[in-house]
Amino acid sequence: MNNNGFKFSSSGQGIVSGQCLPSDNEPEMISLRPERLADYIGQGETIETLKIAIEAARIRGEALEHVLLHGPPGLGKTTLAHIIANEMGGRLVITSGPALEKGGDLIGMLTQLETGDVFFVDEIHRLSKAVEELLYPAMEDYCIDFVFDKGINARSHRFRLKQFVLVGATTRVGLLSSPLRDRFGLFRSLDFYDQADLEKIVNRSARLLDLQIDPRGAAELARRSRGTPRIVNRLLKRVRDYAQVRCDGRISKSAVADALRLEGVDSQGLTSLDRRYLQTIIDYYAGGPVGIEAIAATLLEETDTLVDVVEPYLLKTGLLVRTSSGRKAASAAFSHLGYPVEQ
Ligand code: ADE
Repeated sequence: MNNNGFKFSSSGQGIVSGQCLPSDNEPEMISLRPERLADYIGQGETIETLKIAIEAARIRGEALEHVLLHGPPGLGKTTLAHIIANEMGGRLVITSGPALEKGGDLIGMLTQLETGDVFFVDEIHRLSKAVEELLYPAMEDYCIDFVFDKGINARSHRFRLKQFVLVGATTRVGLLSSPLRDRFGLFRSLDFYDQADLEKIVNRSARLLDLQIDPRGAAELARRSRGTPRIVNRLLKRVRDYAQVRCDGRISKSAVADALRLEGVDSQGLTSLDRRYLQTIIDYYAGGPVGIEAIAATLLEETDTLVDVVEPYLLKTGLLVRTSSGRKAASAAFSHLGYPVEQ
């Protein structure tokens, strides 16, 4: 503990949860997660920035500035919040934009925080305006203003908070208001992981799960995991089951291919929803351009799911193109799905 009351200890102090996301409740998910920045694979510049900011805060004996993390699901936003809490020796308190329905929900959580705790707000772009406005003085001055009564009887009382760190996560940074965005000192976008980093993650997870995996098995799994650690770890467990029941337990390239065929994951890592999305554009809208609402209506899927979960990877791999008049399937999508390629 330094003289400003910060606990920069080496031991994380567990998780105090407001409302957890389903994947964050999985005990095995948590054990496969790196717990310190030194163990984190990939996202080199983000990790370097966080190391410097945490070390500088430690030297000055100050709170780390609030951190905004942006990127598609599964790339490590929640993991980084866990790590920041561990590095600061604070607790992690988890909630999400939609869970904070009323001002009282936020006040209840903020007033429980201790100095150095990390307050993680997932889907922060979905906070209501009223809750967001309560957050401004909490972020800037570590205080909240309670308002009692209404109209001419209205009185306000300022309540001091401990110096916490807000870590906000969003898949849609464009939906954040600029007053909220501007109150974060650190803003990083997480990108999809490359093949080499995913292979390292597979090998690390296999070691933690005590599995034998061939280098070609690890490479195949990495290639089919949509650049996403959460997917690589989930598929590794499916392949583990397959290899135990149908093979000798060892994870080879062919065990990966056979297990993933059963999972509906194809040679490029596309899921059945990815393929249905591209097929809809090709079959119903002559390859596009077509608006996202029309695709969602045809697929009977939520627009948000398509925008947040499906499209980022298809755009990244060049199978999908976004133009001012709508989404278009690229010629690579036609050939991958076995359609004649338009000239
Ligand atoms: N497990 C999941 N994501 C990881 C990462 N980025 N580094 C190491 N292990 C991981």
